[in-house]
Amino acid sequence: MELAGRTALLTGATGGLGRAIALTLAGRGAGLILSGRKADALEALASELPGGEHRVIAADLAEPGEAERLAAAAGDVDVLVANAGLPAAGRMEDFSAEQVQRALRVNLESPMLLSQALYPAMLERGSGHLVFVASLAGKSPAPRSSIYNATKFGLRGFALGLRTDLGPQGIGVSIVSPGFIREAGMFAESGASSPPGLGTSTPTEVASATLRAIEADKVEVAVAPARQRFLAHFGLASPGIAVRVSSGSAGQKSAAEIADGHSQDKR
Ligand SMILES: NC(=O)c1ccc[n+]([C@@H]2O[C@H](COP(=O)([O-])OP(=O)(O)OC[C@H]3O[C@@H](n4cnc5c(N)ncnc54)[C@H](OP(=O)(O)O)[C@@H]3O)[C@@H](O)[C@H]2O)c1
Repeated sequence: MELAGRTALLTGATGGLGRAIALTLAGRGAGLILSGRKADALEALASELPGGEHRVIAADLAEPGEAERLAAAAGDVDVLVANAGLPAAGRMEDFSAEQVQRALRVNLESPMLLSQALYPAMLERGSGHLVFVASLAGKSPAPRSSIYNATKFGLRGFALGLRTDLGPQGIGVSIVSPGFIREAGMFAESGASSPPGLGTSTPTEVASATLRAIEADKVEVAVAPARQRFLAHFGLASPGIAVRVSSGSAGQKSAAEIADGHSQDKR
């Protein structure tokens, strides 16, 4: 799909990766509908973007009914980039039932409900594209990430299944799976280091991957150095080995740094 003149709804627009994705899609001529919880930050971002046809809609996707309200307020949308997410880092016993529900709603349920609300009109128009920002944590496990792993494995499964339904009808469905991202975003903000030898990528690379997913109708674009991509893919194929390797001291140290670096409200 060519983006010039199209309308794209982007959730998590105020975050580290969301900002980069917004700048890249707007630079390609798309009119953006920016969403997140903070109206002021969304307005400030909208005023920075190239092109003039941008709107903002504040929504708290942890609240029931908000995904449906956001989709209705957005109206006709050619592209959805479901990017909002919580790190949900920590051991299972550290989460209240409410925190588990919030992570599931923001990371998994709201992308499902947004796409359900938006794709019927795409089918009527005969074109549209849905992008789900997952993670390499949707392929391979990590300590203190069981809830995050669950949401990202789930999101990948949802997107792949949905693609089998919508692809034959001309609607694109793509997954963007970042690894450790430096400079901005939830991993950078935690102040943690990536496990030795795995490296990091940038928000701009995630934005370019999102663009490629839409323009070339990619099933999945992983955004990470080759070694990280290989290990995550290997982890998907060999879960027993992946669990053993991730449980080792390097994985535990990095996971503890990430979990300790996030505040309670990011659960
Ligand atoms: N950064 C990484 O290293 C990395 C790696 C792999 C995957 N990812 C994925 O990339 C996506 C973006 O992450 P990021 O690094 O940009 O994170 P971030 O900087 O923490 O931004 C998260 C975004 O999600 C929004 N959000 C959080 N809770 C929300 C809620 N209840 N309702 C609506 N919006 C909410 C935030 O908006 P407000 O706070 O303004 O509401 C913010 O815009 C996430 O899905 C994440 O899992 C990131």
